[in-house]
Amino acid sequence: MAKIETVRAQEILDSRGFPTVGAEVVLSDGSTGYAGVPSGASTGEHEAVELRDGDKARYFGKGVLKAVANANGELAKAVKGHEASDLSGLDAKMIALDGTPNKGRLGANAILAVSMATARAAAASAKTPLYAFLRQAYGIKSDTWLLPTPMLNVVNGGKHADSGLDVQEFMIVPTELATFADGLRAGAEVYQVLKKKLAALKMTTAVGDEGGFAPRLKTHLEVLEILVASIKEAGYEGKVRLALDCAASEYYKDGKYVLEGKPLTSAEIAEVYAGWASKHGIVSIEDPLDENDWSGWQAMTAKLGDRLRLIGDDLFVTNPEFLARGIKEKSANAILIKLNQIGTITETVKAVTDAQKAGFSTVISHRSGETEDAFIADLAVALNAGAIKTGAPCRSERLAKYNRLLQIEAALGAKASYACGSAFNTPAGAR
Ligand code: PGA
Ligand code: ZN
Repeated sequence: MAKIETVRAQEILDSRGFPTVGAEVVLSDGSTGYAGVPSGASTGEHEAVELRDGDKARYFGKGVLKAVANANGELAKAVKGHEASDLSGLDAKMIALDGTPNKGRLGANAILAVSMATARAAAASAKTPLYAFLRQAYGIKSDTWLLPTPMLNVVNGGKHADSGLDVQEFMIVPTELATFADGLRAGAEVYQVLKKKLAALKMTTAVGDEGGFAPRLKTHLEVLEILVASIKEAGYEGKVRLALDCAASEYYKDGKYVLEGKPLTSAEIAEVYAGWASKHGIVSIEDPLDENDWSGWQAMTAKLGDRLRLIGDDLFVTNPEFLARGIKEKSANAILIKLNQIGTITETVKAVTDAQKAGFSTVISHRSGETEDAFIADLAVALNAGAIKTGAPCRSERLAKYNRLLQIEAALGAKASYACGSAFNTPAGAR
């Protein structure tokens, strides 16, 4: 039993060099925990508020000194003396103190920093690894320790790069390997083959925000073809599949999806995606449609949901209320999970467990602006999430998560199992 004594938040920089919130929590027994909050670029309209200063004289208005002051002031005062292992009570207290539906007063970045840092401190106090502590703190009963299947974003488009591609992320997914370490190795080897192929085509091999390449290939089909060829050349045909994050809200203009310059209806673009999927072994598509096109999502899930995981990111924004609507209306069959979209661990865990109960797949995700914090690796294992999306095998803020998963898999030894294709309905299922 240890109580929160101090909260020390500060402005730190994310992987794009913009400010975000970092915080250390110190407990009465001397245990400490530190956390860094990530930050998105293609953010959903309904995400919790990332409080920024708006003072143009500092970091172009992107400073987070107000959020830091809220963490060090009001939040620190309110949580002082709170039992650190009671994470849900702590989060409820901070949500109530904020008093707004979107954490707009104190800032989701301030609240999440305290939430995550306290979890780390409490895990340290209990001398338990974070993944095991989170499972225990939320009363999750399972004897399985599932290492998530990584979804490695190897070609970046949309808002994350200047490749000119409409689709934001092209991912490789090692679904048919024996262990997480084997899966990551497959992903990393395919990535290196892809780099060689792009160089041979005289394409740039400089990387985008999530570590993927940003080649100026003309069409989306060309990207898919070069990925399939890279998988084959690396020796992983049938073992590594493809996935997309369209982030389609970014190319939804005046009621149409403008793909490669052509305006399409949601039914027409569903046909395009279906063609890509059947030809190139795509297992999931995230945000194929706009975040407010609920009827389009419903029709697409009815049409493609038996073949593909349709993952709601901007659609659900990790919000249990939006997810409940999606479950009721069968708008998707999977959810992307980002802690800072909702702003506390407790609400994030609820989104995951609600989704799992409804038979939705869950993918724990980084943001395009990241820190070296690998919290999501532990979260994915704690919740048996089945999949994790944390960029290319490149850039240390991305590798921090993959490397942490390697460490967890090794520590669990024979108790660990690899999720393989279980989140994607591929033949291998879980091993
Ligand atoms: P973001 O992108 O972190 O820039 O929002 C990631 C995603 O859309 O999944
Ligand atoms: Zn997304």
